[in-house]
Amino acid sequence: MAKVTAITEQLRSNQGRHSAAVGAMLILTFGLLKSVSAVPQPATANPPATLKDTGLYTDFGTLLVDPAHLTFAPQYPLWSDGATKRRWISLPPGKVIDGSDPEVWIFPVGTRFWKEFSFNGQRVETRYLERRADGSWLYAAYAWSPDGREAHLVPVRGKRGAYPLAGGRSHTIPGMTDCKACHQGGASEILGFSTLQLSSEPDPGSLHAELRPDPGVDLKYLVDRGLLVGLPKTLLETPPRVAAATATERAALGYMHGNCGHCHNDQGSLRNIGLFLRQGVKDAGQPAIDSTVNHPVKKPAPGQSPDAVLRVEPEHPERSGIMQRVGSRYPALQMPPLGTELVDDEAVALLYRWISETAPLRKEAHIEQKGR
Ligand code: HEC
Ligand code: HEC
Repeated sequence: MAKVTAITEQLRSNQGRHSAAVGAMLILTFGLLKSVSAVPQPATANPPATLKDTGLYTDFGTLLVDPAHLTFAPQYPLWSDGATKRRWISLPPGKVIDGSDPEVWIFPVGTRFWKEFSFNGQRVETRYLERRADGSWLYAAYAWSPDGREAHLVPVRGKRGAYPLAGGRSHTIPGMTDCKACHQGGASEILGFSTLQLSSEPDPGSLHAELRPDPGVDLKYLVDRGLLVGLPKTLLETPPRVAAATATERAALGYMHGNCGHCHNDQGSLRNIGLFLRQGVKDAGQPAIDSTVNHPVKKPAPGQSPDAVLRVEPEHPERSGIMQRVGSRYPALQMPPLGTELVDDEAVALLYRWISETAPLRKEAHIEQKGR
C-alpha cells in the first residue's frame, strides 16, 4: 500500500512528466522486490549503435529481413496511438524455448526480438530485446531517419517528438525506464510471445488485432517444429482462451490483458493495488472480473468523478472507475500511464459496451463468493 501511495503521490507532483515519474517509481519498487542475485553479473554489453548491427536484415539497403527470423503477431496487441507494428523473433540455431511453465516461457540466451512501429506508412522506431549470457534482457530502441534509410540507437532517456500525432501531440520513443516499467511488471519480461498471445484459436473479436503474418506462428507451429518444448499437451488440444460470459466480455478482458495486464497482475510490484487484469492460462476463477466488477476503487485519482466509486459498476460505464481512467489522457488519471498520448476511442467503446451489458446480478455472485 505504501508503494502504491508513493506512486500516486509521485504522479500528483509530476503531472507534467508523468511517464518518467511512473516509470521511475515502478522500477524502484520492482528493484526492491526482486531478489538480489548472489552470482556476480558480467558487465552489461552495450546495445549495437545501429539497427543494422542487430542483425534484423540480411540486406539493409533493401530492408530485406533475414528469412531465418520468425514474424509473429500477438492476439491481443498493445495499442500505441494507432501505430502499425511488425514483430520478429530469432532463436539461436539449435536452441529452443522451454514452455513447461506456460505462464513464463524461458528463452535461450541469444534470443532476439524486434518490434517495428510505423505511423502512416513511415517507419518511426524499432524496439529491440536480446537475452544476454547472464539471463537478463538488453533493451534498446532505434529511431528511423525521416527518409527511412538509417535507424540509430535512441539515448537511454528516450526521444520526444518522434512523429506528430493528432491534437498537437507527438509520439515519444520510451526511455529504458519506461520499457522496463511495462516489461518487468510481472513474471515474464516477454509480453507478446506467450501461451495466450499465440493461442492457435485467436479471438475473432480482439480489438486492433492484426492478421497473423505468414507463416502463422502460433503454439502449434512452434511445437510442430520443435521450437517450443515442454508445453502442457492440453494447451494444444484445447487452445487457451480468455474465459468470459459473452464475446464482448472476452474481447474486453483480452484488451485489458494486452494493454494493462503487464502492470496489473498478481506478481509484479503493483500487485497491492489488487487489480488483476493479466489473464493466466491456468487461472482458477476470473481474477479480472473479481477485481473489477462491483469492486470499489482503491484510491480515486485526481480528476476522477466522485461518483465513480466502483472500478466497474454493471450497466453504468459512466460511473465506472476504469472508464474514467481509460477515457482520459490527463496525466494523473490516464491509463495506461505510459506509451500513449491519445485516448484509444475503440477501447473506450468496447469497454463501455461490456460494462453496459454486464448484468448487476454479478454483484450477488461476487458478494456470495466473498461471504463464503
Ligand atoms: C506501455 C507498456 C510498454 C512499454 C513502455 C514498452 N513496451 Fe514493449 N511491449 C509491450 C507489450 C504489452 C508488448 C506485447 C504486445 C504487442 O507487441 O503488441 C510488447 C512487446 C515488445 C517486443 C516484442 C517482444 C515481446 O515482449 O512481446 C519488444 C522487442 C519490445 N516490446 C521492446 C520494448 C522496448 C525496447 C521498449 C522501450 C524502448 C518497450 N518495449 C516499451 C509493452 C510495452
Ligand atoms: C505501466 C504500468 C501500468 C499500465 C500499463 C496500466 N496501469 Fe493502471 N495503474 C498503474 C499505477 C502505477 C497505478 C496506481 C497509481 C494511480 O492510481 O494512478 C494504476 C492504477 C490504476 C487504477 C486505479 C485502481 C484503484 O482502484 O485505485 C485503475 C482502475 C487502472 N490502473 C486501470 C488500468 C487499465 C484499465 C489499464 C489498461 C488500459 C492500465 N491500468 C494500465 C500502472 C499501470
